Amino acid sequence: MSFDLDLIIRNGIVVTASDQVACDIGIKDGKIRFLAAGLPSLDGCQEIDAEGGFITPGGVDSHVHVAQSAAKGLGARSADDWTSATRSALAGGTTTILAFAVQGRGTSLANAVTDYHTKSDDFAVCDYGFHLIVTDPNEHQMHTELPKLVEEGITSMKIYMTYADLKLNDGEILNVLFAARKYKVTTMVHCENADVIDWMTKSLQARGMTEPWHHGTSRPPIVESEATNRALALAELMDTPMLIVHVSAPEAINIIRKAQTRLLPIYAETCPHYALLDGSQMRKDGFEGAKCVCSPPLRDDPKDKERIWEGLANSTFTVISSDHAPTCYNDERGKQLGLIENPTNNPRGNFKTIPNGLPGVETRTPLLWSEGVLKGRITPQKFVELNSTNAAKLYGMYPQKGTIQPGSDADLIIWRSDKSRKPYKIENSKLHHACDYTPYEGVVLEDWPRYTILRGKIVYDGEINEVLAPPGSGKFLQRGSSTLPGPRNQWLSEWRPE
Ligand code: URP
Ligand code: ZN
Ligand code: ZN
Repeated sequence: MSFDLDLIIRNGIVVTASDQVACDIGIKDGKIRFLAAGLPSLDGCQEIDAEGGFITPGGVDSHVHVAQSAAKGLGARSADDWTSATRSALAGGTTTILAFAVQGRGTSLANAVTDYHTKSDDFAVCDYGFHLIVTDPNEHQMHTELPKLVEEGITSMKIYMTYADLKLNDGEILNVLFAARKYKVTTMVHCENADVIDWMTKSLQARGMTEPWHHGTSRPPIVESEATNRALALAELMDTPMLIVHVSAPEAINIIRKAQTRLLPIYAETCPHYALLDGSQMRKDGFEGAKCVCSPPLRDDPKDKERIWEGLANSTFTVISSDHAPTCYNDERGKQLGLIENPTNNPRGNFKTIPNGLPGVETRTPLLWSEGVLKGRITPQKFVELNSTNAAKLYGMYPQKGTIQPGSDADLIIWRSDKSRKPYKIENSKLHHACDYTPYEGVVLEDWPRYTILRGKIVYDGEINEVLAPPGSGKFLQRGSSTLPGPRNQWLSEWRPE
């Protein structure tokens, strides 16, 4: 075996989802070649001294909205394009993102994918893949187009139970699940009860209760837990795995936990904002609360955040994603829509027309590291599992992505050691996204990535806060099927899919 290496990282503590070990990492042609103590120095080989810091796999953020029109159909515009979103990812230690190619109703999945390649391929700076958002699961789309896209490495789809332009009824969801099982596609579900939201919204509007925090009033936890329960019932009926996205309500966590205890292949995702922010954000002065309008909403009871941390630590949650869905605050096609489309002229705006979503692709990993590992809420191994490994497994990228082992892509984060760690204050001006705010302005973290490495190259230098990768250097990932547990061949009746 040749000792020809391009890069050696010394003096680090390598962390995977199961272990941590002090060793050097030898990298060749973008791949990890050796993990060993005392690798010899080689002529022409670059070296990095990790100075005793932890080294974790590059982050895999499996839920990022990039250059996608917002769900409310009001012509809201995404703050980021593919270059700014992926630069932001790298600066926060994320080396792979999965973003959404949206099928418009009555249009084809294949067109959505072609369009999305046009937006991304020459512009991305981190590695990336696409999920499909399915809005029209007819026979042709599900059984002619979908299998072709699976061959092209698009092996996951998101469906919605709410939003007028996106929602599917239960029969349509079964169409999707039937195809998902057949073609081994991971299904992600946005669980909120659309009819309840519509009814509550109308009622609140009629009473003039339109301030940003009434976004939360219109969607109490039961809206999420009822839909979660229904989605899981449909998954059980079809005997197919399912990931519930952006879970926020403890009631929904309980339902998911129960299903997992019954060994159903049910997976769950949450986001840093549900672990760290609460509904008080939407009650800030003036129209400021609009910055934190997202769906499901931030929950009112501050104690709910501890339930999220509990679910992260006890493996109810499979992954933590950013759900990066940025619209600018000072943009007439961003959050300001809530003041513009505001029939009652409420000076605090109208929640109904505020585009949903928060930015977070850059802050996700440092928040989980600092608030999770360095504050003792989760172990470094659990961090790796939630931040990288499980997403790579669930979405068919493992072990190319999501771990540190010979043969894997050399996607790494080098953190600072106990001795050299210094506080990092989050300020929007330091972030690399194109959004004009962060919900974490002023939050002080205990650390921030010192280096991000993608396929063996330093792509973010935290000493100077610079992203070094040029547009187009990110690679599209042709993914396989999930390697987490799948169908069990256990049925609720005599019905079978074949
Ligand atoms: O509020 C959110 N999460 N907006 C993004 C769209 C979605 O449903 O994930
Ligand atoms: Zn969603
Ligand atoms: Zn989302």
